Amino acid sequence: MRSLFPRAAAEVDLAEAYAAPPGRHLRVNFAASADGAVTVDGRSRGLSSDADREVFHLLRDMCDVVLVGAGTARTENYGGARTGPRGTPPIAVVSRSLRFDPSSRLFTDRSVQPIVVTCAAAPSDRREALTGLADVVVAGDDDVDLAAALEILAERGLVHVLCEGGPHLFGTLLAAGLVDELCLTVAPLLAGGAAGRIVDGLAAQLVTPLELGQVLVDDGHLFLRYSTARG
Ligand SMILES: NC(=O)c1ccc[n+]([C@@H]2O[C@H](COP(=O)([O-])OP(=O)(O)OC[C@H]3O[C@@H](n4cnc5c(N)ncnc54)[C@H](OP(=O)(O)O)[C@@H]3O)[C@@H](O)[C@H]2O)c1
Repeated sequence: MRSLFPRAAAEVDLAEAYAAPPGRHLRVNFAASADGAVTVDGRSRGLSSDADREVFHLLRDMCDVVLVGAGTARTENYGGARTGPRGTPPIAVVSRSLRFDPSSRLFTDRSVQPIVVTCAAAPSDRREALTGLADVVVAGDDDVDLAAALEILAERGLVHVLCEGGPHLFGTLLAAGLVDELCLTVAPLLAGGAAGRIVDGLAAQLVTPLELGQVLVDDGHLFLRYSTARG
């Protein structure tokens, strides 16, 4: 991994490069193709690389909790995070429908119980079905109130939040002004087709200025680190 910006360097200390500021922080991590596709054949794997997986795991090692939308957890067949130097961050899955398979990796292949972040309108039978499988957090009435959910997580000491998508969750977080940082891997390929982009689900265009803080490169993959005005 080489650094191109803010200074050129042939070698990079990744832990230093991705150090997060102290206190509450919401970092979002995505990979996209050069033409902005967020998936290849419906999943993110085709956009990744060894270096991207290294950054992916490093960011997990640095966070207190991994926040992910239920769509991504289902499509990418999420299991628990691996144990890193700071312990094992729980996976917190945001869902209104609570449409989960209790035998999925999310509940079975993990060392820490997942958190399911839902709202009061979620089906009560499905909520009951999660008893013993997940730590269920209710924030909001008809939809998950993400600001309230982040407050609840912070009250538990989970202040460094890493959001791994997907695009609908990212769109909702952006609209609520909750995002501090975006880490974006740009894969050296064009995907074409109907794949979505990293932000989705917004009724109207939402222009969010970003400040470029860092550009790393490895094997044609660009690793961009941006902050929002909030961050
Ligand atoms: N390239 C990458 O880095 C990357 C990263 C992540 C995902 N992806 C791809 O993105 C796709 C999935 O993205 P997506 O946008 O469809 O799904 P998503 O954002 O992961 O999940 C959307 C779901 O999350 C729940 N949700 C989100 N916000 C909510 C709120 N405020 N209140 C209640 N529920 C809320 C809902 O779950 P319920 O339906 O359960 O109610 C909603 O259907 C997959 O193809 C995945 O491979 C790519």
